[in-house]
Amino acid sequence: MAILELNGVGKSFVRSSRGKLPGGKVEVLRDINLSIRENEFVCIVGRSGSGKSTLISLIAGLIEADSGSILLEGQPIKGPGPDRGVIFQNYSLLPWLNVFENVYLAVDAVAGKLSDSDKRQRTEHYINLVNLGAAMTKLPRELSGGMRQRVAVARGLAMDPKVLLLDEPFSALDALTRGTLQEELARIWSETRKTVVMITNDIDEAILLADTIYTLTPGPGATLGPAIAVDAVHPRGRLQLSGLASCQKARRETLRNLTTGASRPVAGATVVIH
Ligand SMILES: Nc1ncnc2c1ncn2[C@@H]1O[C@H](COP(=O)(O)OP(=O)(O)O)[C@@H](O)[C@H]1O
Ligand SMILES: [Mg+2]
Repeated sequence: MAILELNGVGKSFVRSSRGKLPGGKVEVLRDINLSIRENEFVCIVGRSGSGKSTLISLIAGLIEADSGSILLEGQPIKGPGPDRGVIFQNYSLLPWLNVFENVYLAVDAVAGKLSDSDKRQRTEHYINLVNLGAAMTKLPRELSGGMRQRVAVARGLAMDPKVLLLDEPFSALDALTRGTLQEELARIWSETRKTVVMITNDIDEAILLADTIYTLTPGPGATLGPAIAVDAVHPRGRLQLSGLASCQKARRETLRNLTTGASRPVAGATVVIH
C-alpha cells in the first residue's frame, strides 16, 4: 500500500492586479497524481516557479488543495502534523536557541511523554548523525550555512515523521558544501530508510539520492511526468554513479522530460530514449 497518495490534485491562486499586470486566478498545479511507497526516496525536479513549493506545502498541509485528494496512510490530510516533517531551504532555526536546544524542542514537541533522559538521548543521537556532536552548544549565528542546514536535517529526522519533506534543502549552499551534504544525506538515508519527498532543481542531486524521480512541467498548470526509476544501490557515491548505465539513463530521461515537458506516461511504457 502507498504511504502517501495524491489523486487529481489541483491548486490555483488568486492574484491581485499589479500595475499593468492583470489580476485573476492562476492555476499553479493541475491533476497531480503521485503514489509513494513506505521507505521510498522520491525526488521531484522542476524549474523555478513551476509550483514545487506549492506541492510540498499541500503535502505538509500548510495550504489546501482546490481539487483532488491527498492521503497519508489512507487518511485525508487536514492540516500540518508531526507525521510530516518539513525542511525548508532557509534553515528556519530559532536564533536564540543553541544546536541541542533547537533539536530538543522538536523532539519534545512530538515525544513529550518520553522521559527527559530519553529525549536528550534522542536529540544527541541525531545531532551526532549529522556530524555536529562538537557543536551542540553553538548558536545558529555561530554556524556556517552548511552546519545550519545539518541542524535542520537533524531536527527533521529526530521528529521521526512518517514522511520527511525537503524543499530544496541545499540550494542556498555553495557547490562544495552542497556536495558534502548531499553525500551525508545519502549515508544517513541508507541508515534510516525514512520515506522522503525531496524537491530539487539539481538533477545530479536527484540521481544521487532518489529511488524515483518525477519531473514537474513548467507552469501554469504544472503536472508531474512519468516515474523515472534510478536503479542503483544505496548509499551511492558520485564517482561510482557517473559510470553506471542505469543512472545515465535516468539522467537522460529526467533531462528529456524537463525540456520537452513530458507529462503523461506512454501507456504502461517507460520513456524511450533516442
Ligand atoms: N500564496 C500565493 N499566492 C499567489 N501566488 C502564489 C502563492 N504561492 C505561490 N504562488 C505562485 O505560484 C507559482 C509557483 O510557486 P512555487 O510553488 O513557489 O514555485 P517553485 O517552488 O517551483 O519555485 C509562482 O508563480 C508563484 O508566484
Ligand atoms: Mg520553491
